[in-house]
Amino acid sequence: MMKHARPALRILATASLLLLAACKHDAGNGNEAAMPQGGTPIVPQLIPMPAVLQQNEGSYAVDASTPLHASGAEAQRVAHQFDTYLADAKRPLPKIDNDANANDGIRFAIDASASKSAEGYVLDVTKNGVQVRASSEAGLFHGAVTLWQLLTESTGKQTLLPALHIEDAPRFAWRGLMLDSARHFQSVAQIKQLLDAMALHKLDELHWHLTDDQGWRVEIKRYPLLTGIGDCRVDAGDAGLGDGGQPLPHCEFYTQDEVRDVVAYAAARHIEVVPEFDIPGHATAAITAYPELGTAPGKLQVGHDWGVYANLLNNEQSTFDFLDNVYAELIDLFPGRYIHIGGDEAVKDQWIASPRVQQRMKELGAKDETAMQALFVAHLEQFLVAHDKKLIGWDEILEGPLPSDATVMSWRGTDGGLAAANAGHDVVMSPAPTLYFDHPQFDADTAPGQPGVQTLKSVYDYEPVPDTLAADKQAHIIGVQANVWTEHKRTFAQLQDALFPRLAALAETGWSPRDRKDFADFGERLPAMLQRYDALGLLYAKDAPAKPLDATTRNSMQLDDCNAALRWHLEDDGPRDGERDVYAVNIFKPCWLWKQADLNGVANIEVRAGRIPYNFQLAHDEAQRKFEPAVSAHGELVIRAQCNGPRLASVPLPENPDSDGFVTLKAAIPTQSTATDVCAYFTGDTRPNMWVLSKLTLAK
Ligand code: ACM
Repeated sequence: MMKHARPALRILATASLLLLAACKHDAGNGNEAAMPQGGTPIVPQLIPMPAVLQQNEGSYAVDASTPLHASGAEAQRVAHQFDTYLADAKRPLPKIDNDANANDGIRFAIDASASKSAEGYVLDVTKNGVQVRASSEAGLFHGAVTLWQLLTESTGKQTLLPALHIEDAPRFAWRGLMLDSARHFQSVAQIKQLLDAMALHKLDELHWHLTDDQGWRVEIKRYPLLTGIGDCRVDAGDAGLGDGGQPLPHCEFYTQDEVRDVVAYAAARHIEVVPEFDIPGHATAAITAYPELGTAPGKLQVGHDWGVYANLLNNEQSTFDFLDNVYAELIDLFPGRYIHIGGDEAVKDQWIASPRVQQRMKELGAKDETAMQALFVAHLEQFLVAHDKKLIGWDEILEGPLPSDATVMSWRGTDGGLAAANAGHDVVMSPAPTLYFDHPQFDADTAPGQPGVQTLKSVYDYEPVPDTLAADKQAHIIGVQANVWTEHKRTFAQLQDALFPRLAALAETGWSPRDRKDFADFGERLPAMLQRYDALGLLYAKDAPAKPLDATTRNSMQLDDCNAALRWHLEDDGPRDGERDVYAVNIFKPCWLWKQADLNGVANIEVRAGRIPYNFQLAHDEAQRKFEPAVSAHGELVIRAQCNGPRLASVPLPENPDSDGFVTLKAAIPTQSTATDVCAYFTGDTRPNMWVLSKLTLAK
């Protein structure tokens, strides 16, 4: 409960990448207007890297007077999208016409012979003009995006393109992004902005995570309470309380008209939207709305904790009917091929504890709970196939017998995906933690998120088809996907910051041939992409050197941990609007560690501490929660030498922090003459809150 949150410590200092961006582009310096035809053409800085790119002699200048010829409805549509994207990036617009015979300017054409791949295209720049050809509208759109990238490298009134020949087609059919709209909600306008960003990276699958323990986000006409109750949540801590201390629920969902709008917007950009209704776990919001669906004793509430809830759907026939009815409405809303049924993290404790669930398992012939989950999957697979849809689910669906044409999304690393491919299933690789974009992007990244940095390079270096996979199984890996879970992405700014520029790295893995990938070369091309983000108003994380450390005071981000793998970046629960403080916190066994602290002359360790919600459902990981028991009424601040060394001090904690939300504790330590690792932590079980360290000072 921190009343006076200061702006979070997100580093806004000069970004090395931005400096690169500013230095690199001699064609992007705004002088092109005066540039003669013989000037220096731009150097193509394309992401993803095309399959074939040959540069030739000569150049062609494009400006607002350049005609854009597009004959036929498909080419005309792409031409108008192209102009809109140029306008979004504040670039001059060529003039569109439908002249089929002109030989000058830019030409967009559907040409059956252009590319064997339905998504491929050919782009030629000669001294006479630019031609983009493809056998399909999707291919032509991708070609237009490539030309857009070339024209957004400069900032002047004219771009001098080098003569070149590009032949391009994607490596993978599934180039995906999963967006979690359940934990935190994004407006339709924000999702459209993301869809445009996806299109400009040649991504083609938006996996839309619409239901979870913390919210049901899609209108289902037959079950109005899914959005009348299931979409409303009271957030943990102060964030969930009004000025008078009353609960402050917030309710958000997409109407069916809004869903259709999003789906149509995506389709116009050749992106399929794959909805996920996660079953049988991650279903607390649905069960709260319709308790007869569940097995939990007592009344539930839409969850405001993160982690894994124990609540599962039950296995009554009426629940299967409910699923059919909900999926029937989803099928109607989402015309794409795939429907995602979730299937992850369904801890089976409630099924094991329920005599009624066990009786139904016997009736249904399920020998254990895993087999019961497999029956859910088999039921839905039949239902979806009967409606001409393909089932996709998280890799847990592989634990039971799995219908052969089900597609597996590998998230618990890659083993599940490889096993699925070996068993003949199609697979999308989206392994945690590498492709989980809710982790920080670099060491000094203070964004709220999951433990462990996943850098641009680690995302880039991820290879979805390992050499160990037999050649005849490799085609089962149909693609890659990044997942942006939003427990810790409360705002759209935080979401963008998590996505970019890592999405550019994912895009290159999804699209470019394996042998065209090179991280150093990608780094050379990235500044142009960042410049495009700037032009479009997209936010992105800016790598920056860590702030120099203070000799006597450090904040939580500047301290270490005895187990960094369990160290979250958690946001404060206030203020209700605007930026909040972020703390580095180990939620299993906290210890804020100052490695090799110079304790010479230090008589006291001062800790400024506050409280934030402890809002985690740990399920079977509960046993790993190793907070030391409290000795006094409200617990203590303990200072140790090293993680498990001798106690240097112990100071009782007050029942509550001061009125500003913090308390400063002074712990006298025995005189030390050497540098020592110092570990500060709080004892006791103060759930639903926890004490966190804001600052640690070595004092006289
Ligand atoms: C997942 O991250 N639970 C799919």
